[in-house]
Amino acid sequence: MRTILVIGIGAGDPDYLTLQAIKALNRVDVFFVPDKGAEKAALKHLRTTICERFVERQELRMVAIEVPQRASSGCYQHNVDHWHAELADRYGHQFEQHLAEGEVGGLLVWGDPALYDSTLRIIERLRAKGLALDYEVIPGISSVQVLAAKHRITLNQIGEPVLLTTGRKLAKGFPSDAGSVVVMLDGTQTFAQLSDPHLEIFWGAYLGTPDEILIAGHLAAVKDEIVTVRQEARERHGWIMDIYLLRRCDPR
Ligand SMILES: C[S@@+](CC[C@H](N)C(=O)[O-])C[C@H]1O[C@@H](n2cnc3c(N)ncnc32)[C@H](O)[C@@H]1O
Repeated sequence: MRTILVIGIGAGDPDYLTLQAIKALNRVDVFFVPDKGAEKAALKHLRTTICERFVERQELRMVAIEVPQRASSGCYQHNVDHWHAELADRYGHQFEQHLAEGEVGGLLVWGDPALYDSTLRIIERLRAKGLALDYEVIPGISSVQVLAAKHRITLNQIGEPVLLTTGRKLAKGFPSDAGSVVVMLDGTQTFAQLSDPHLEIFWGAYLGTPDEILIAGHLAAVKDEIVTVRQEARERHGWIMDIYLLRRCDPR
């Protein structure tokens, strides 16, 4: 049986790697490295630093997996499903080619594998198709945790829930029954369209990296600043990863 270790490497700073993740890295025979567009440079840098710092063996076996573009027109769910099927084929092919029976493959996942990441779904697809594969998941520090830590806030208000969602979903409006909402994967600055005067925002970009930017305040007061800063940073670096918490201010 082949084994795949899905290792959460934290969202940005190599110091976020857990002791469990370091032990897992040192069990890996072959690292499978998805090659994907926008976040590529940051991910590549973090991965290289992590391997240099924490992997003890001298000869690293690395196998690239080319990530196809996801179709952007038409039905979103259908496109994602089709994309996952294509990815599963590519992963499966590389596992069969490069991982011998009894060997351990490693997949380094940005942040935590349980949050807006398709790796586990792809592995489940491969198993459903009959590939004999065992796998383990090593949790990582997600961008959500880093956002809260950097702003020194709790995500929830006392006894209240927190909603984790995407920019696409927020575009339908701030959920009427939610006190606190964490928004990820927002390429269009959806927060800037919200006009509720009681919202506050805690925004962070490039968290955990030397380029980190943090802005917080009443949404109405800081949203233009965030839009400008975000745009300038995106142009300067050629890519951006940002996340934010929106919450209703305490009326008192
Ligand atoms: C595909 S999701 C992956 C999330 C990841 N699995 C995690 O645990 O954070 C990518 C989104 O996570 C957020 N994100 C991840 N790392 C970040 C970072 N270092 N700074 C700001 N946002 C980040 C952004 O919203 C980005 O669009």
